[in-house]
Amino acid sequence: MNEISIIAPDDWHLHFRDGDMLRETVPATARCFKRAIVMPNLVPPVVNAEMADAYKKRIIDATPPDSGFEPLMTIYLTNETSPEDIVSAKNSGVVAAKLYPAGATTNSDAAVSQLEALYPVFDEMSKQDMPLLIHGEVTDEHIDIFDREKEFIDQKLSVIVGKYPELRIVFEHITTKEAAEFVNQGNENIAATITPQHLLLNRNDLLVGGVRPHNYCLPVLKRNIHQEALRAAVSSGSKKFFLGTDSAPHEKHRKESACGCAGCYSAWSAIELYAHVFEELGCLDKLEAFASLNGPDFYKMPRNESRITLVKEDWQIPEQITLPNGNPIVPFFAGETVHWKLRV
Ligand code: DOR
Ligand code: ZN
Repeated sequence: MNEISIIAPDDWHLHFRDGDMLRETVPATARCFKRAIVMPNLVPPVVNAEMADAYKKRIIDATPPDSGFEPLMTIYLTNETSPEDIVSAKNSGVVAAKLYPAGATTNSDAAVSQLEALYPVFDEMSKQDMPLLIHGEVTDEHIDIFDREKEFIDQKLSVIVGKYPELRIVFEHITTKEAAEFVNQGNENIAATITPQHLLLNRNDLLVGGVRPHNYCLPVLKRNIHQEALRAAVSSGSKKFFLGTDSAPHEKHRKESACGCAGCYSAWSAIELYAHVFEELGCLDKLEAFASLNGPDFYKMPRNESRITLVKEDWQIPEQITLPNGNPIVPFFAGETVHWKLRV
């Protein structure tokens, strides 16, 4: 097989950032994705309809005119979010709300400390049929970073799912066997996104032979049995799993630092990286559903009409890219050879 044609894909989880960074990140995504769920963890976070609307306009201003790309906006749940905020967000076209446990990741200081306080908000989201997107990690200091996702399932997610069986939940960027099992065993209202880095790598790729800051993201890469479980989840063809890159740019000096930021900037090669993994797994026939069908079906949105073609061709991901502000950024998988290329 030297060519694959699939319905145009969407990215169901990414970070565009703001300001002049948008001139890099938005075209990179619009290159192959028709829609993207845009994370709200700006500083300050996007917490209501007005902020989401203003952010959307800034993204559209940075979108290449003929790309047909559409940003799908989200709001950030805080201790102050009210059911009324959900109603007005829904009415203004916001697609989903994101739950970050306080302190879980980049710019999550404003996030939720007491989940129970959000129950009236979850009730309203259920009523409005608005999906809840979850960063599933506990943040208690005494919990080992490699156990934080599993602990979140046991302590929090199973409670939310039990209490709100009608609420559609996306368990974002899952990283463990336990998460894949939880989603597989759940009802049809729970699904998960999976990133390219968690399919391609395990924690050895982060730590063996030296610390590799460009492979550092949150939730952190896990041991290889977990990587294998995620690979099995995508090769199973289950419609509960779909594409979400979690592309999360940080300038080079912020990654290569004594306290480096979490996030892999994968937009540059996202669809190609997934094709690369699916080929390794011998399941290229499952790529279209994962990238282009399962996401819109879960979000109750139409599937895209246009198509893309991937061509079997070796190419090397650049070592470095220059951002609009002149600073360098290192793309995810920099210097590595990928075997598929989007035909433009
Ligand atoms: O690695 C990550 N980077 N994980 C997240 O959850 C947030 C993201 C970011 O915004 O940089
Ligand atoms: Zn993210």
